Amino acid sequence: MAPFLRILGIETSCDETAAAIVERAADGAPNVLSDVVLSQLDEHSAYGGVVPEIAARAHVEALDTLIEEALARAEMSLSDVDAVAATSGPGLIGGLLVGLMTGKAIAKACGKPLYAINHLEGHALTARLTDHLDFPYLMLLVSGGHTQLILVRGVGEYERWGTTIDDALGEAFDKTAKLLGLPYPGGPEVEKAAARGDAKRFDLPRPLVGEARLDFSFSGLKTAVRQTAMDIAPVSDQDVADICASFQRAISRTLQDRVGRGLQRFLHEFPNTPEEPALVVAGGVAANQEVRRTLELLCAKHGFRFVAPPMRLCTDNAVMIAWAGLERMAKGFASDDLDVQPRSRWPLDQNAERMIGSGKRGAKA
Ligand code: KG4
Ligand code: ZN
Repeated sequence: MAPFLRILGIETSCDETAAAIVERAADGAPNVLSDVVLSQLDEHSAYGGVVPEIAARAHVEALDTLIEEALARAEMSLSDVDAVAATSGPGLIGGLLVGLMTGKAIAKACGKPLYAINHLEGHALTARLTDHLDFPYLMLLVSGGHTQLILVRGVGEYERWGTTIDDALGEAFDKTAKLLGLPYPGGPEVEKAAARGDAKRFDLPRPLVGEARLDFSFSGLKTAVRQTAMDIAPVSDQDVADICASFQRAISRTLQDRVGRGLQRFLHEFPNTPEEPALVVAGGVAANQEVRRTLELLCAKHGFRFVAPPMRLCTDNAVMIAWAGLERMAKGFASDDLDVQPRSRWPLDQNAERMIGSGKRGAKA
């Protein structure tokens, strides 16, 4: 086996265009040689959410330059990489087409193998790059498009223990912000407003709390926010702050219950895990301090290690796609044929029951 493998990663599934070069030594040690991300936030913010056509066009315009930039920063040319990894789903189909077709073209022109990567697998394996975690571990993905609790058993071995049955958590933050007249993306704005609010003023619902299944639901919470705002209209700045604080409190209690049950199930299924069991968080909502605190306390209570990769690698990026490709290569998984198709829906766990909110990205507005 070569002393190390190097791969070009491409990510275009939503509103970030990204390219990265990552290396993996024979002993598994990772080395990020370059990591370039271009956010399309400015293009979409006027519309209060991601507009698929604008996203696809922006990916086309930026991707070639971004790949050149990733290669330049790594001081390499395409002939120096061993393979290409491109996100092939789930996500917005226009963006996926741009990234996957570009990956195919490079693979064909340079005679390199292509790995068509599931975006969720990228998130799931990132903690092995950042924190050298061993399998198995539990992952909570909380982004604008997903809310899932996933058991990561090994490369290519994932069990979805819970998912949202309606809105994703980031989507709930964004919609709450929109209802209250705060700008997009709403998560950071809600957090900011909540800091000066009274979390006990409104008793908002905590959907599915107490249920044995590990799923999530946030649309009822959003409806309750709308109703509360209508009941006390016109809303003052202080009212907005109080609603945001009460909303975050409801989220925190919901996560305590749902994720707490997940940790208990993990301990039940893996009583003899040699290392300290770990919970990994990923996705943009991981930036929220109250969410982090809640998860930290929960982990301390159940004897888990809490792993939160740096935010740059928690949100969408190409390093995680490159790394997933490297993990697959190192395991000896076959590369993909050049006729592989992008998939807007692509659950990581093929056996999981289909849910409306699962395996879907992009319907954030
Ligand atoms: O993972 P991400 O950057 O993008 C995708 O969804 O792919 O996540 C973005 C989501 C948005 O819904 C945004 O409002 C939310 O993460 N978010 C936050 C915070 N920062 C970002 N939600 C709550 N609190 C935050 N501080
Ligand atoms: Zn993502």
